[in-house]
Amino acid sequence: FLVDKGNHRHFMEKEIYEQPEVIAHALGHYVNFIENRVVPISDAIDFGKVPSLAISACGTAYLAGLIGKYWFERYARLPVEIDVASEFRYREIPLSPQSAALFISQSGETADTLASLRYCKEHGLKIGAVVNARESTIARESDAVFPILAGPEIGVASTKAFTCQLAVLAALAVGAGKARGTISGEEEQALVKSLAEMPRIMGQVLNSIQPKIESLSRELSKCHDVLYLGRGTSFPLAMEGALKLKEISYIHAEGYAAGELKHGPIALIDENMPVIVIAPHDRFFDKTVSNMQEVAARGGRIILITDEKGAAASKLDTMHTIVLPEVDEIIAPMIFSLPVQLLAYHTAVFMGTDVDQPRNLAKSVTVE
Ligand code: G6P
Repeated sequence: FLVDKGNHRHFMEKEIYEQPEVIAHALGHYVNFIENRVVPISDAIDFGKVPSLAISACGTAYLAGLIGKYWFERYARLPVEIDVASEFRYREIPLSPQSAALFISQSGETADTLASLRYCKEHGLKIGAVVNARESTIARESDAVFPILAGPEIGVASTKAFTCQLAVLAALAVGAGKARGTISGEEEQALVKSLAEMPRIMGQVLNSIQPKIESLSRELSKCHDVLYLGRGTSFPLAMEGALKLKEISYIHAEGYAAGELKHGPIALIDENMPVIVIAPHDRFFDKTVSNMQEVAARGGRIILITDEKGAAASKLDTMHTIVLPEVDEIIAPMIFSLPVQLLAYHTAVFMGTDVDQPRNLAKSVTVE
């Protein structure tokens, strides 16, 4: 069937703005909004019993998996082994046949991800697929399919598939926590309630941040290098921000764990390289602020993406601040994805690149 851009300039923009709707749809499959409970979705994988979980994927899907790792470990106390599929498939990872493995893929056809899946299958693990394309090879070869229900994603740079992957992984992690008895019934309800609020908050953010993002993007489009920093789940998101920017604007960007700043990237800090700091006011906030101080002390220019509480608490003379509403920790990665995606999008638009079809990239990589 035909998918058009509607009123948007690019599919990527349309897909960014579709997120409140598709996330609500995806979540509806995994949670009961009336009782604020996760719904049991698969008998094939018993998350209550598995000793560990393996996750493998490529590109943006891998970064979604990395955020998933934080959730499975925190909420379900489930150890997670994760790697990019091109390494995972060859590392000869010792895997327990009692374990389960999750493969995250928008297309469900990525060659390396499929090879990792087959490696796990040969070792007797139960296989789960977090996919957008339900008829794909990865879905067909799995014991359990967890659809992300994002609808067709046309832009090569993944946006709505990423946040839908996150929403599904969050629901699965909460479900696993419940099955393992590592979260209480009240905690489950509080977490699901936060997930349920996500579409509304996303809509609110999308309706308000565009002018600010556009003026910052104009500045970014003049830069050659950009550094993204974050801690906790904001660390994979920093890597996703850097990936998105380089994919579509061709500006060199790196995502780093904020705590690693002094182990390398600090040598690069000068007034020419903006540092984008992703820092909701969470339990890591003060630590990230001290990293920002290190950047500021060396003349670095900071773009701080934070929430209202974080903006009030950081007394730094930052170059710019993007202020989002305060949200519960479990939904912060999805909410903070929005400015990250829009910064990359508008920067690419200012650069005049082919946003939906960036050079040298393919939507689906079916060769090794
Ligand atoms: C390509 C795409 C990326 C995607 C990655 C994994 O590199 O350009 O957007 O994240 O493949 O694709 P998959 O379909 O497995 O999610």
